[in-house]
Amino acid sequence: MNDFIFHNPDRVYFGKNQMEHLAEEILKYGKRVLLVYGGGSIKKSGLYDSIMKLVSNNSIEIFELAGVEPNPRHTTVNRGAAICKKEKIDVILAVGGGSTIDCSKGIAAASLTENGDVWPLVSEGVWVTEALPIVAILTNAATGSEMDGWGVISNMDTNEKIGLGGSALIPKAAFENPEYSFSLPVYQTVCGAFDIFNHVLDNYYFAGDATFDLIMEMQEAVMRTVVKWVPVAMKNPENYEARANLMWASSMALNGVLDGGSVHGCACHFMEHELSAYYDITHGHGLAIITPRWLQYILNENTAAAIYRLGVKIFGVAEELEQMDGAQKAIDEVSAFCFETLGLKSTLTDLNITNEHFKEMAEHACCMDGVITGPMTLKPSDVESIYKMCL
Ligand code: NZQ
Ligand code: ZN
Repeated sequence: MNDFIFHNPDRVYFGKNQMEHLAEEILKYGKRVLLVYGGGSIKKSGLYDSIMKLVSNNSIEIFELAGVEPNPRHTTVNRGAAICKKEKIDVILAVGGGSTIDCSKGIAAASLTENGDVWPLVSEGVWVTEALPIVAILTNAATGSEMDGWGVISNMDTNEKIGLGGSALIPKAAFENPEYSFSLPVYQTVCGAFDIFNHVLDNYYFAGDATFDLIMEMQEAVMRTVVKWVPVAMKNPENYEARANLMWASSMALNGVLDGGSVHGCACHFMEHELSAYYDITHGHGLAIITPRWLQYILNENTAAAIYRLGVKIFGVAEELEQMDGAQKAIDEVSAFCFETLGLKSTLTDLNITNEHFKEMAEHACCMDGVITGPMTLKPSDVESIYKMCL
């Protein structure tokens, strides 16, 4: 078990009746607010109007950046940063899913730089310690961006999608009302749910190596929660308990609580970000296609025990199987969860993705250290093989 520091300064207002605290949280930082949102779901759901009503009673001045794309672009971030500079914005109010919150994080960092360009920060891996404060209102249970210090920004000119990280990027406050996710389409619900599942799985085995039982049990509880509640939310999008469980699972998966002494591998995430960067696909769907193939690729006598444990603890696979058979059964269960329960298309071919760019994508995916670390160290040739298994 490794030593660790846990500190998460984000104040979370969870539940139905918390918006009365919105103005008070904003006013801690000032009155000039940049409201950032996506393609219009918050207008359809009525959330935009409620926010406007709440802030107008408190002489808060709102400026807007609308139209943040899923997989937010660096150019959109830079537009937001320019507004912040021009209008002397005090605080950013991000309302939406991970893309909107991530874009806001990019804006928060870039607006304090001289030229207001986020891309050098992203591409040079700058750790952000100074940024405008962010208050987030979450509408999609998925990325954990509402409580973490990461924002993933895409540059479609160079086919790059890279995480911008820093202690200053953790939102100061997050409002999590499960009702705000009632309006999510089924597709976004399941993609978000699988993203949560994979955030835990991508870091799961390392805690095992470190024999920190509490962390393993908590990680498994989050994955079981997703498996239990996403079918309920798919069937009844307005089931509050389902939405609440998924929303808090989203935050718990990446707010640091589950890190305790573990080492982040993020193998599936490194591989998926290349798919989104080249083909602009939905992040959780890309993860669902990659994950069972990755598990299959890394299955050997060193990893079988951990994969088998996943099957037993999350999917109720029988405990008395021979280890390799149990691990195979676990992989089959993950696959059935992705493609039968969640109903996601199961191959890259289904998403019109061919092997054309696999070589360069595999190189990019390994560019941090030349390899992707994890339960099995993956070289670019391994990553390419995994992509091919997804066709
Ligand atoms: O843009 P609007 O109109 O709001 O519609 C969005 C968008 O079309 C819609 N949506 C969100 N909430 C809704 C809703 N529609 C109806 N009702 C609601 N309540 O859903 C679509 C997808 O939204 P998006 O924000 O893109 O989804 P998500 O939350 O999954 O975020 C994905 C982005 O986050 C990154 C991903 O790579 C991707 O770019 N990630 C961020 C991470 C982080 N910050 O730590 C970690 C993750 O691993 C991930 O990489
Ligand atoms: Zn993710």
